[in-house]
Amino acid sequence: MNLQDAQELDAADPLAPLRELFSLPEGVIYLDGNSLGAMPRATLERVARAVEGEWGKGLISSWNTAGWMDLPQRVGDKIAQLIGAKPGEVVATDSTSVNLYKVLHCASQLQLTDAPSKRIILTEIDNFPTDLYIAQSVCEQLGFSLRAVKGEDIEAAITNEVAIVMLTHTNYRTGRIHNMPHITARAHVHGALTVWDLAHSAGAMEVDLHAVHADFAIGCGYKYLNGGPGAPAFVWMHPRHASRARQPLSGWLGHAKPFDFSHDYAPASGITRFMCGTPPILSLTALDCGLDTLLAALPHGGMAALRKKSVALTEMFIAQVESRCAGFDLTLVSPRESAQRGSQVSFTHPTQGYAIIQALIARGVVDDFRAPDILRFGFTPLYTRYEDVWQAIEALLAVLQSREYLKPEFQQRKAVT
Ligand SMILES: Cc1ncc(COP(=O)(O)O)c(C=O)c1O
Repeated sequence: MNLQDAQELDAADPLAPLRELFSLPEGVIYLDGNSLGAMPRATLERVARAVEGEWGKGLISSWNTAGWMDLPQRVGDKIAQLIGAKPGEVVATDSTSVNLYKVLHCASQLQLTDAPSKRIILTEIDNFPTDLYIAQSVCEQLGFSLRAVKGEDIEAAITNEVAIVMLTHTNYRTGRIHNMPHITARAHVHGALTVWDLAHSAGAMEVDLHAVHADFAIGCGYKYLNGGPGAPAFVWMHPRHASRARQPLSGWLGHAKPFDFSHDYAPASGITRFMCGTPPILSLTALDCGLDTLLAALPHGGMAALRKKSVALTEMFIAQVESRCAGFDLTLVSPRESAQRGSQVSFTHPTQGYAIIQALIARGVVDDFRAPDILRFGFTPLYTRYEDVWQAIEALLAVLQSREYLKPEFQQRKAVT
């Protein structure tokens, strides 16, 4: 393969026009959309309109006239299309961590009523730290224990003692995808509920929560949904839990009638009860725009086409690193089998992973490092080109051959890696 082959793949790519919807800096190859999605061109104007017109001119009346009040639900309906949920089942609210706390607490309470002897929350030891920390709090508060096992041991660890299986669908380090249908089915056979973190899946691949009969799901707005830094996250529960679900952050906007200002809490029906306080309208506006940009892929084949391209990009990257960068101590830690791999590829390097990433960033190839030794490359099929993959490999090879990662400035750890 050579540069011309990569350019020919781009020329034949039905999704290629979508890249124009993003504002990507000249000279940058952005392989970090799995951490912070790129900015859609339309976002600036959309947010400016919300600031100047809706807030500046409409002032407080915009809660009614600009549709601010139901923006969490409207944005939720767009997310629902990506995760196999139905309209009215998703809200965009709070952060991923906070939503996880709410659903995990809620699921634990359901199990305390239905199966009080089950006191284990099962998860993967290499789950994202916030998921582990939130689960530790819920366990302490409600008298559960956290059992954290290796990813490959999850299915076997689902026994009758397990109350809840809480997993991140696509692992943030390796990009390994858990088998959601099998795990959910096995959890249910053993009387456990499932909580899925879709942070690295929503917008990156097809997810069908109803088809697998999942119980709860949460996910992130700023990765593949392109909602901007710290964008609101989302939350979903299966409607079979709706009448009994209680969440611990019983704020007024999760109330059935917030503007009755009554003294006592009465949860709103459905997923709206998972809201807590006043929605961040400007952030939701940016997320709404990020979703519109993603949903612009629908006429081009939608999530199926995006996933197909994501697989092609990651396959190409793996093949090129392994053939052209052989002998430089890089070891693939993402699954080789594309069906088990998300939209990222990770390699380890025994000693210089961080510095190699810094040297790549200095060359305009933006990716990231995850301790202790992982070099992480994310591919967002909406805007990543085959040519970008080719250029990233050229840069990686140059960094490895020149050993420029040994420069002192690349060895210095920054706060965010
Ligand atoms: C799997 C997973 N869950 C949660 C988060 C972050 O949660 P929050 O948005 O609350 O910081 C991340 C961030 O990368 C993540 O990878």
